[in-house]
Amino acid sequence: MRAAASMALALAALASAGGHERPDLPAGRAQTPWPPRIIRSAENKHQPALWSLYDTCLSRAKYIDLTHTIRPDMPIWRGFGNITFRQAVNKETGRAFAYDTDGFVANAYTLTTDQMGTQLDAPAHFNPYYAAADEIPATFALRKLVVIDVSAQVKSNASYALTVADITAWESVHGVVPPGSVVFVRSDWSKPWPVVNTDVFPQVPLDTVKFLHLQRRILFHGHEPLDTDMTPHFDAESWILSHGYAQAEGLTNLHQVPPTGCLLSTGFPKFVGGTGNYVRYVAVCPHDWTYGLVPGHPPEAPLPHFDAPLVWNPQKGYRSRS
Ligand SMILES: *[C@@H]1O[C@H](CO)[C@@H](O)[C@H](O)[C@H]1NC(C)=O
Ligand SMILES: *[C@@H]1O[C@H](CO)[C@@H](O)[C@H](O)[C@H]1NC(C)=O
Repeated sequence: MRAAASMALALAALASAGGHERPDLPAGRAQTPWPPRIIRSAENKHQPALWSLYDTCLSRAKYIDLTHTIRPDMPIWRGFGNITFRQAVNKETGRAFAYDTDGFVANAYTLTTDQMGTQLDAPAHFNPYYAAADEIPATFALRKLVVIDVSAQVKSNASYALTVADITAWESVHGVVPPGSVVFVRSDWSKPWPVVNTDVFPQVPLDTVKFLHLQRRILFHGHEPLDTDMTPHFDAESWILSHGYAQAEGLTNLHQVPPTGCLLSTGFPKFVGGTGNYVRYVAVCPHDWTYGLVPGHPPEAPLPHFDAPLVWNPQKGYRSRS
């Protein structure tokens, strides 16, 4: 009796919510019911557990991109040259592939390094006996995400170094950093990207990375700058990679991620013998969180149709819509 009444209430709440438009989308954009319908356990009891988890939780979560766009004018570590983008050329005709003559276009890239943009450093970058990009296991794909915010300290000291005390202070509020989790350090260094200072930047020093790996047993840590610390011999990065750990660099949008409660999705290509990975990191956060996109908003299949076409821009050196 009571169960039936609460089910009826839940259904009424869903019905009244079903017709609402999501407030943060432009008027007139194709709308699907908002918030997304929650599939009740009575309906999904025959579903595999992960599909139920998807329906009840991940399908309604907020997805936040923590990744810089790879573009020829982005900052790269000073030791590497600039990268360039070109139109891919049909080797039969010597002309760039074009929509009207070939039905499609393609790009060609000259990349001076696999250490650029938002990345996952493979241990083989510093130690040939540990994993290269293609040897990092698929289990890195989904983890608990911890975000430790030192942006206030960085405001008064641009080269501030995350301390073990910062981590234990975080833990006194949020609980112990879970083993196997990913720990990202928010500094707001990346906010003015691409106009950033690659000579002076917030640091994650050796003592702190040792604490995270040896005491807390994390999977990997990540930071916004392109380097881990400012020591002449890359003390922290060198220790991390030469001991078989990975690390994330070049992160952005960490100010949009709460300290706990999100998952991290990590996707990267598999270059044989790769020493770095061009990565797409996405934080998957609770559905009531402020930032992020929900599956289906904006449309995904098909994806939205743009008003302006993508065209090769010789001044910019890449394809753009303006
Ligand atoms: C490399 O790219 C930067 C940023 O776009 C630019 O300022 C610099 O002149 C480029 N260097 C060379 C050698 O082309
Ligand atoms: C800023 O922090 C770094 C790293 O802890 C430290 O070496 C430096 O002395 C600090 N600078 C100032 C002005 O406090």
